[in-house]
Amino acid sequence: MSAVSDVTPPLPALDVLLAPPGSGPGAGTRLEPTPDEEPLAALYAVPSGPHVRANMVASVDGGAWGPDHRSGSINDAADWRVFRVLRALADVVLVGAGTARAEGYTSLDVPRGLEHLRAGRGPLELAVVTRSGHLPPSLAGGDRPPFVITDEHGAIVARACVPADRVLVVGPADAAPPGAPPAPRDLPSPTPGPDLRAGLAALADRGLGRVLCEGGPHLLADLLALDLLDELCVTTTPVIVGPGPGRIVGGLPPLGGILPGSARATRATGTPEGPAASAPPVHPRLAHLLHADGTLVARWALR
Ligand SMILES: NC(=O)c1ccc[n+]([C@@H]2O[C@H](COP(=O)([O-])OP(=O)(O)OC[C@H]3O[C@@H](n4cnc5c(N)ncnc54)[C@H](OP(=O)(O)O)[C@@H]3O)[C@@H](O)[C@H]2O)c1
Repeated sequence: MSAVSDVTPPLPALDVLLAPPGSGPGAGTRLEPTPDEEPLAALYAVPSGPHVRANMVASVDGGAWGPDHRSGSINDAADWRVFRVLRALADVVLVGAGTARAEGYTSLDVPRGLEHLRAGRGPLELAVVTRSGHLPPSLAGGDRPPFVITDEHGAIVARACVPADRVLVVGPADAAPPGAPPAPRDLPSPTPGPDLRAGLAALADRGLGRVLCEGGPHLLADLLALDLLDELCVTTTPVIVGPGPGRIVGGLPPLGGILPGSARATRATGTPEGPAASAPPVHPRLAHLLHADGTLVARWALR
């Protein structure tokens, strides 16, 4: 997903193909775009309390980006329509630093005209997850810098870019995998990175409990591996990108590497070809399915 721009393409009608009774517009309803988007927002309502939703776009053949290495080349107006509503409903957009760099994220605004969907909640915040602490220049300065979720090592770098009170130092919870020999004193310890669970708790402590993760694939893999995701929204657009682009869940560990424990445990035992062991696939429940001109917009519940 890319950062919201001021350029708004014509928005298509969305047909509800499947929706549970009582959750808003039912199957067979056509959702014409309206200025307030209330019916569409009703379909994406979340329970009160902390909630982590991811929103990703994929090509028909499973690609997470197009030839330009950005998701903007595979998304479309139907995806954009839902993307805006999901942002309006969130307290904070969470992205990996790779996505912030690739997509040129800037500080966020609530999509224009959808402020009423926030029901008085504050501005839409951005939180970037990073081990290195390196943020893109597009996020330096500005009136509302992002929160940065990182560990002690990344924080040293991040504080050069954003104010210290925006740097959430969470972890490393354990500096080395269990059983690993102590690092020699003259070598920097490999950092396992921030504790994502603690990072989400730190956001919730600041009133940012409704989290919208916009990727990318490495961050999504870690959220899944740690069982931190409540739902996954996936738009499948009618495009085939061929071999090359990665999937919406990427890096180590792949989905088959969701092990009891954490991503960290898998990394400790994995190889460049994959993790040392697999776990059963996760089976989300299809909460609703929308359609526009060949684009399928699905909401999958993980709990
Ligand atoms: N299809 C879609 O919906 C979609 C959505 C988003 C992005 N994308 C595409 O995906 C590509 C980027 O992929 P990516 O996998 O590199 O994205 P990513 O997950 O956003 O970025 C990976 C980087 O984010 C940080 N990070 C991720 N998980 C972390 C964790 N658990 N702890 C600490 N840091 C963590 C690290 O940053 P540091 O290197 O700073 O340590 C890591 O190198 C781009 O082409 C982008 O356009 C597609």
